Amino acid sequence: MARNSWITLIIILILGLSGCGSRVVDGQQVNKKEKIIIKFSHVVNENTPKGLAAIRFAQLIQARSNGSIEVQVFPDSQLFKDGEEFEALSRGDVQMIAPATSKVSQLFPQWQIWDLPYLFPNLESVHQIMDGPIGKALLEQLEEKGLRGLAMWDNGFKHLTNNVQPIIKPSDFKGLRFRVMSPGVLQEQFNNFGANTVLLPFNDVYEALSEGNVDGQENTISNIYTQKFDQLQDYMTLSEHGFLGYAVIVNVEFWDQLPSQARELLEETMAEVTLWERETAKELNQMQFEEIKKKNLIEIYSPTAREKRIWKEDFFSVYFKFQKENGSDFLNDVKKWIEPRENN
Ligand code: LMR
Repeated sequence: MARNSWITLIIILILGLSGCGSRVVDGQQVNKKEKIIIKFSHVVNENTPKGLAAIRFAQLIQARSNGSIEVQVFPDSQLFKDGEEFEALSRGDVQMIAPATSKVSQLFPQWQIWDLPYLFPNLESVHQIMDGPIGKALLEQLEEKGLRGLAMWDNGFKHLTNNVQPIIKPSDFKGLRFRVMSPGVLQEQFNNFGANTVLLPFNDVYEALSEGNVDGQENTISNIYTQKFDQLQDYMTLSEHGFLGYAVIVNVEFWDQLPSQARELLEETMAEVTLWERETAKELNQMQFEEIKKKNLIEIYSPTAREKRIWKEDFFSVYFKFQKENGSDFLNDVKKWIEPRENN
């Protein structure tokens, strides 16, 4: 090769290499290429325990990853509603969801344990199960369907609202139609008292109540307040009959291909936000209850301990059915974790 040709080739190579080099070290290009986007879809309002915790998680991750991980939160069923979220996660249309445990129970029936009426005397006993070996085993069940449970969050205990009459004793349920969020235990608890149930996604409840397609529903104060059910319904019984909590879930395939540092950051931040979420859930439900009282649009009945005990005893058949389907050993194990606290 002639000398000039060698020089030209070397110049081309140098330019070429430096061009490649500049593409690789270009900060913007690298960030764009490597930026991890996590779409976090949920069905409730932003001003709820889940809604606020999702935002906090997104903000902390943004700051701690220097913007290289972006959690985009989509509240209010903006992307997907109940019944669509799991498939969207499996398809990779979203990377994180936080459905109610009742909805997880449609895939894993033992998760109905969280729905059993009056099983948990207080939030501490809920957390004991969540944070102990039973909670861990329940989260591990998700792996069977390619899902990973990162955390469990609270909303709180549910109450009853309806448009027909104050609900004080079991016979007051008779003939009423209640919206439920999932089949099984939740349906059974109403059928047990002679009420009917209609299965509806969360974002259809307002319309169903306003059009009279259902007479009532069960939910936490935070959901009742933010969905304005107190403006539609005449009676609320502070029954605290069942717990509403969430599983924060990712798709295993997505999770496993993340760099280990990213997974560590997400896990650590999730653990921190989970503690914050529990406190926030308690405070927010209390604050929003005060707001509901101030608005004074719904008649509120607070049952006595004796009235609650009567309900609890009358829920016998719901427990019986759960045990038949999920084994009495499982329920007994859960009770063992709860009872020592109750006896304290
Ligand atoms: C409901 O469907 O009533 C709740 O599960 C909504 C939620 O996510 O809190």
